[in-house]
Amino acid sequence: MNKLSKILASILFFSLLGIGGYIVGSHQANGNKQATPKAEKKHYTIGILQYISHPSLDQIKQGVVDGLAKEGFKDGENVSITFLNGQGDQSKLQMMSQQLIGEKPDVLIPIATPAAKAMANETKTIPIVAGAISDPVGSGLVTSLTHPSGNITGVKNEAPIADQITLLKKLLPDAKKIGVIYSANEENSKSYVKAITEKGTKAGYDIKSYAIQSSNDLAQTVQVMNQEADVIYVPQDNGIASAFQTLMNEANKAKKPVFVSVDNMVKEGGLATVGQDQYQLGIRTAKLAAKVLKEKDKTTLPFDVVSTGNVIVNEKKAKELGITIPEAIKKEATVVGGE
Ligand code: TRP
Repeated sequence: MNKLSKILASILFFSLLGIGGYIVGSHQANGNKQATPKAEKKHYTIGILQYISHPSLDQIKQGVVDGLAKEGFKDGENVSITFLNGQGDQSKLQMMSQQLIGEKPDVLIPIATPAAKAMANETKTIPIVAGAISDPVGSGLVTSLTHPSGNITGVKNEAPIADQITLLKKLLPDAKKIGVIYSANEENSKSYVKAITEKGTKAGYDIKSYAIQSSNDLAQTVQVMNQEADVIYVPQDNGIASAFQTLMNEANKAKKPVFVSVDNMVKEGGLATVGQDQYQLGIRTAKLAAKVLKEKDKTTLPFDVVSTGNVIVNEKKAKELGITIPEAIKKEATVVGGE
């Protein structure tokens, strides 16, 4: 035999072995489907898509990466994580979703509702574990929280709106008109506005909502609200979170209290809220993603719902506005003083 035919013969020999092995293997697999665990995969690919930059989503993303590492999925070791940020741009979100899917990931982790919806549009098969979704059903991402449809599960961070209204009432006993500002293109905000309108109306408030098309409208809209509302209420809106200083600048000019929905916004000059630990939301998202990776075929896992929060108040802002924080609130609250 010459060299070439030797090589060809060995290729033929080994491929026959391979086929034989395959037949035996698949026969065994069929024989005891339940008992045979799937082989432990050595390397994983994960795609993270963050909707936009703002302090809360940045913390959630960090929580996801740290949480995955704690669960044994370490970037650069047994995992390759590709991280993309859509910068609030719908067409970028679509392109980036396609790019991440092109890497054949084991799990996709979108952060915030618009990123999750963009990914959900692009794949019905790759598992999606969505991070920090205010209202997965109301925003049209899934049809049920307990048995999510198709390939999607995640963490629902349901704002404790009733507790927020109770706190608002204690801090601003004279307020009657609440103006709620939100981004027209965020499904998460629309359902938040609906919820606060229902609960606020029940609590005796006059609620009016103000939609902005983009952050370019923000300053002007706040000026109108300064005229019409006793207090400006900011839901968990990504667009506004990323331009929060613009909102504060205008509200400050009219000494208008800004009641918020996220701890970070209190640190940036909002008056108060009952808020959730954003980093922990990321950790919990990672836990769910790790489950999906370890157990496979588990995207029908129910959503993990985070619905309670902690009181946080900005004492410096309260002083500027002439508001005295009741001692009882101070006792239970985290008190900050930033702008
Ligand atoms: N819950 C938001 C969504 O569904 C995302 C989010 C989490 C958020 N934390 C936030 C938005 C803080 C604004 C501020 O998209």
